Amino acid sequence: MAIRNIREIGEEVLTKKSREVTEMTPRIKELIGDMLETMYEANGVGLAAPQVGVLKRIVVIDTTGEDPHILINPRIVETSGEQTGSEGCLSVPGKKGQVTRPEYVKAVALDADMKPYELEGTELLARAICHELDHLDGVLYVEKVEGPLLDAGSEEGEE
Ligand code: NI
Repeated sequence: MAIRNIREIGEEVLTKKSREVTEMTPRIKELIGDMLETMYEANGVGLAAPQVGVLKRIVVIDTTGEDPHILINPRIVETSGEQTGSEGCLSVPGKKGQVTRPEYVKAVALDADMKPYELEGTELLARAICHELDHLDGVLYVEKVEGPLLDAGSEEGEE
C-alpha cells in the first residue's frame, strides 16, 4: 500500500463525475488499500477516489478509526431528518463551514468483494456518506456551505 497525493480544490478532477466500477481487479484492490492508508495518514474520516485523482465510484469512510467502510458504486436510498454542523474536506485544507445534511442516511453499495450491502448511519456517519458521495458527482461541500468558509482551527473531522 502507498500514500497517494490528495488533490485540492481548483483541480479539474474534483469537478468531474466518476464512473461505476464494473469488476474488481488487482488495480482497484490496490487503489482501495491506498485510499484507506491515505485517509488514515491525513486523519480524515472519509475519502473518495476522485480525491486521489481516480474517477471511479469508490469511497472509504471510517468515522471511529476502527470501522472502515468500503463503498463501491454507492447510492443513497433513504434519508430522514436534518443536521447542521461543521464540515471540512481533505481537498480543501485548512477550511471548514456549516453544511446541512440529513440526520439519517441509508446507502446501498458493493463491498470489496463486489457483494451488495447496506450501510446506515446517523450524525457524523450520515454526514460523511453524503459528503463522500457528493465527491463522486464532482461536488465539493464548499458549494453547500451556509455562511462563510472559515479557517479550521484543527484538522479533526476533515473528510
Ligand atoms: Ni471531501
